[in-house]
Amino acid sequence: MKKTITAVLAIGLVSVAYGALQAGEVVVRDDQMGLAPGSVFDDPSPEVFQYPETEPSAARGLQRAYLGAPPQIPHRIDNLLPIRAKKNGCLRCHDAPDMIGKPRAASGEPTPMPLTHYVKLDDGSLKRADNRHVCVQCHTPQAEVKELVGNTFAP
Ligand code: HEC
Ligand code: HEC
Repeated sequence: MKKTITAVLAIGLVSVAYGALQAGEVVVRDDQMGLAPGSVFDDPSPEVFQYPETEPSAARGLQRAYLGAPPQIPHRIDNLLPIRAKKNGCLRCHDAPDMIGKPRAASGEPTPMPLTHYVKLDDGSLKRADNRHVCVQCHTPQAEVKELVGNTFAP
């Protein structure tokens, strides 16, 4: 009986030791923890983006990322930011409800904001939707920047 107990204890000890060994093998390296290519302890300085300096008069619309995506801004906007409650330089060119759906005469003419950016009042007139006031919440200028993590998204 004593022998049996000793044998069972020995087997138990061996199993525990083996389990500990197994656990010790699971090592997650600091450069494999995240999607970033380096170690999670690295503190890299972000690249400085060079946004295009295209003036609106020379701008042409960019391809949309997918159907219904907010179009990207093809011209410089640095002189129009920040957008404030009482100062929104984008409206000067893009707030033209009378032009919605009409063919534009010349290239370099701004695309009017679509109907979704307005609310229709009882008298049929269009009022600009205040919830779209901060245009750069959805529309952004684009810089030639390499993607940090590859992806296979297709529209
Ligand atoms: C001086 C006039 C002017 C101002 C001010 C201006 N834009 Fe533009 N914008 C243009 C012109 C011109 C185009 C090019 C039109 C085209 O080819 O569709 C354009 C294109 C765009 C487009 C792409 C439209 C499309 O259908 O692809 C977006 C989005 C846009 N602007 C947003 C903005 C925002 C946001 C601001 C303010 C930060 C702004 N614009 C200020 C004239 C202007
Ligand atoms: C909440 C997000 C959002 C905000 C804020 C917003 N937009 Fe848009 N905008 C969109 C989306 C989405 C579209 C694409 C709609 C579509 O054509 O289906 C669009 C389309 C446009 C277009 C292209 C219209 C066309 O016929 O091709 C212009 C120009 C534009 N927006 C200008 C502006 C301006 C100027 C502001 C600020 C006053 C603004 N937007 C604020 C989401 C937004």
